Amino acid sequence: MTRLLLAALLLGLAAPAAADDAALLKRGGVLSMRCATCHEFAAGKPNKVGPNLHGVIGGPAGKVAGFAYSQALGGSGVVWTDAVLDTWLERPTAVVPGTKMAFVGLPKPEDRQALILWLKKATR
Ligand code: HEC
Repeated sequence: MTRLLLAALLLGLAAPAAADDAALLKRGGVLSMRCATCHEFAAGKPNKVGPNLHGVIGGPAGKVAGFAYSQALGGSGVVWTDAVLDTWLERPTAVVPGTKMAFVGLPKPEDRQALILWLKKATR
C-alpha cells in the first residue's frame, strides 16, 4: 500500500515535468527560427551571417573554425553557460559590448529558457 502510494506520487511528480519539457522544447523550436536566418545548428553545416552553433553551447566563445568573429567576441573569454546564454539572448551587447550579432533580444525569461533548452539538444 505504501509502495503503491509512493509510486503514484512519483509518477504524479514526473509526468508534468516531462510534459513541461516537451512544451518548452516545442516553444524553443519555434523561437529558433529567429536565429536560423543567421545560424545553422547541425554538424557539418556552413557558417552563415553567424557561426554554425554545433558544439558551441557549454564551451568557450569564438572558436568555430572559418568564422570571422568580431574582435570583441573573439577576445571575450566568455564561456556559454546557461546563465551567460540567458543574458546574451536577452541583450547580446550586455555580455559582449561591441559584438556584431545584430539581434534585438528576447525580453521574456520563459522564451529564453525554452530556446536554451532547445539549443542544447539541437547543437549537441
Ligand atoms: C542577424 C544575424 C543573427 C541573428 C538573428 C542571430 N545571430 Fe547569433 N551571431 C551572429 C553573429 C554575426 C555572431 C558573431 C558575433 C561576433 O563575432 O561578435 C553570432 C554569435 C552567436 C553566438 C556565439 C557563437 C560562438 O561561437 O561563440 C551564439 C551562442 C549565438 N550567436 C546565438 C544566437 C541565437 C540563439 C540566436 C537566436 C535567438 C541568434 N544568435 C541570432 C548573428 C546572428
